[in-house]
Amino acid sequence: MSLLELKDVHKTYSALGREPVKVLDGVTMHAEAGQITGLVGESGSGKTTIIRNIMGLVKPDSGSVTYDGIDIPSAKREAQRRLHREVQLVFQDPTSSLNPRMTVLDLVGEGILVHKLAKNSAERKDRVVELLTAVGLSERDLDRYPRSFSGGQRQRIAIARALAVRPKLLVCDEPVSSLDVSVQAQVLNVLKDMQEQMGLTILFVAHDLAVVRQVCSTVAVIKSGVIVEQGPSESVLSEPSHEYTRALLEAVPVPDPPQARVRAQARLTKAG
Ligand SMILES: Nc1ncnc2c1ncn2[C@@H]1O[C@H](COP(=O)(O)OP(=O)(O)OP(=O)(O)O)[C@@H](O)[C@H]1O
Ligand SMILES: [Mg+2]
Repeated sequence: MSLLELKDVHKTYSALGREPVKVLDGVTMHAEAGQITGLVGESGSGKTTIIRNIMGLVKPDSGSVTYDGIDIPSAKREAQRRLHREVQLVFQDPTSSLNPRMTVLDLVGEGILVHKLAKNSAERKDRVVELLTAVGLSERDLDRYPRSFSGGQRQRIAIARALAVRPKLLVCDEPVSSLDVSVQAQVLNVLKDMQEQMGLTILFVAHDLAVVRQVCSTVAVIKSGVIVEQGPSESVLSEPSHEYTRALLEAVPVPDPPQARVRAQARLTKAG
């Protein structure tokens, strides 16, 4: 069953005195419930614009964007409240998405407070500690501020924050692109665990096909605002039916990324 569906979505950005930019040109794709769906394509192909449509930040010119039967652009108050809690976003850069003046307890606990998911502050704190543990951090981190963490740890805080409201759909816009390879693996593992343990549905935007191969069961490939193919990652990445996917695959710089990753990890362990 698909939890999220985009059908023939068109979007052109127009600003006064500027040439209109056609960004989405009939996007049709879906995200299967309980699975990780990858969305890949080169820079400027329209990936973030798709996310903006899903988050209700822009409206499509035509076509439909639906989540669990709710038409996102026309959602009324009650439905919007559901979307606000059930659909969460994780950005590429955790530094700019986390308020530097808030402690980890407040950052991760904010949604619990807003959506009244805990009876009192003690229960809220327990839940935050539970989330921190799930992403590989701990109770000791509660009173720390984002700047005192590494990039990978910050991204795990951002994930804990998104998960705090028990979302059903997690939309990740290049969540590991700003991280180095060994840390990428940790963050990807957290996402994979959450998908398995909580039955979370994840839409995972990336341009690194090695990362997609590692975590996504399905992948959609976007080129200039059009989905050129969507299917099981295994078959799309091993026998791409579209020339553009083949070109993307050829652009992957490391011939055997999982191996390279294992080697990098081994080097780090040795060095540490
Ligand atoms: N508000 C806007 N006004 C005008 N053009 C825009 C606007 N937002 C995005 N664009 C253009 O739309 C195109 C697609 O942008 P988008 O951010 O969706 O790409 P992307 O696939 O996410 O790229 P990247 O991998 O670099 O993040 C780009 O050419 C971009 O310049
Ligand atoms: Mg983008």
